[in-house]
Amino acid sequence: MTTLEDYLEKNTDRIDRVIHRYFGDVHGDLFRASAHLLLAGGKRLRPAVVILAADAVRKGNSDDLIPAALALELTHNFTLIHDDIMDGDAARRGVPTVHTVWDEPTAILAGDVLYAKAFEFICLSDAGEAAKIRAVKMLARTCAEICEGQSMDMAFERRDDVSEAEYLEMVSKKTGVLYGASAAIGGILAGATPVQADALYLFGVNSGVAFQIQDDLIDLLASTEKSGKDRASDIREGKQTLIAIKAREKGIDLAPYRRALTGAEIDDLIARLQDAGIAEEVRAVAVERAGVAKQALSVLQDSEEKRLLAEIADYFIARGN
Ligand code: IPE
Ligand code: IPE
Ligand code: MG
Ligand code: MG
Ligand code: MG
Repeated sequence: MTTLEDYLEKNTDRIDRVIHRYFGDVHGDLFRASAHLLLAGGKRLRPAVVILAADAVRKGNSDDLIPAALALELTHNFTLIHDDIMDGDAARRGVPTVHTVWDEPTAILAGDVLYAKAFEFICLSDAGEAAKIRAVKMLARTCAEICEGQSMDMAFERRDDVSEAEYLEMVSKKTGVLYGASAAIGGILAGATPVQADALYLFGVNSGVAFQIQDDLIDLLASTEKSGKDRASDIREGKQTLIAIKAREKGIDLAPYRRALTGAEIDDLIARLQDAGIAEEVRAVAVERAGVAKQALSVLQDSEEKRLLAEIADYFIARGN
């Protein structure tokens, strides 16, 4: 029986190898900027979901779908490069962000290159033409939704009355739908029925919402060494996370923390939030979403891959980076 840990390690090796093949030796400033974040590592979780979903539908030769798995990782990296400009962050995956090594115009274009390549790679996967058209359509719709989610994320910074429902809609768009598309595209390219594809999409969106809630907790609670990213960037930027919404409900004002913070100030804020029981309440919402995600898998036949998909939803809310 494969453990999730072993599976994810093998998946990372496999994806890293293709990334090095296509992006390891690129020429010119723009293409080096495009490759910078891809070559810096990352958990490669969206490709893992693509392949697991495909194998859960039809145990087969998942090598055929490696280009599609890569396409989802490229889409993710495109959003990360642009996200770091929007969030004003200096570190990701333990390395300086693209716009700090180069500049903002180059980082915008570097993201655009990956965005375009994602569609090229979906088309390079070995699957039926009709399935590939469905996959391309789903990826296109997903990218527009991510932009909408990211736009909401930015707009919420200017408000202090964002509700939990609005937060859930925003994270479903900025993060959930890419996991939804990863699972559904893997399934579709492996010949999923519409019912199976819908179930996989639902699994992905809900586990993705849980994933983002955990990301918000990591932003505040994990060290930069552990996360590879700027610590407490969400607090500094005034992001309306579930942590911020629940803090407001309990009368904790985060406005004074909306600036560059020292480690001691962050520790002090964490202690105040912990005293109010905020992290537990936030975690409970993530647990609920992971539960909905796992429930969606019930339409699939039992298999090793279905078990690993359920485990990945649990891992999303237990991970420390
Ligand atoms: C970070 O995603 C961006 C979010 C959607 C929260 P990951 O945590 O999957 O980042 P990498 O790919 O492992 O660097
Ligand atoms: C990003 O959310 C979601 C994307 C669409 C990239 P965050 O802004 O919280 O992601 P990190 O914490 O910078 O990785
Ligand atoms: Mg960010
Ligand atoms: Mg962001
Ligand atoms: Mg974050």
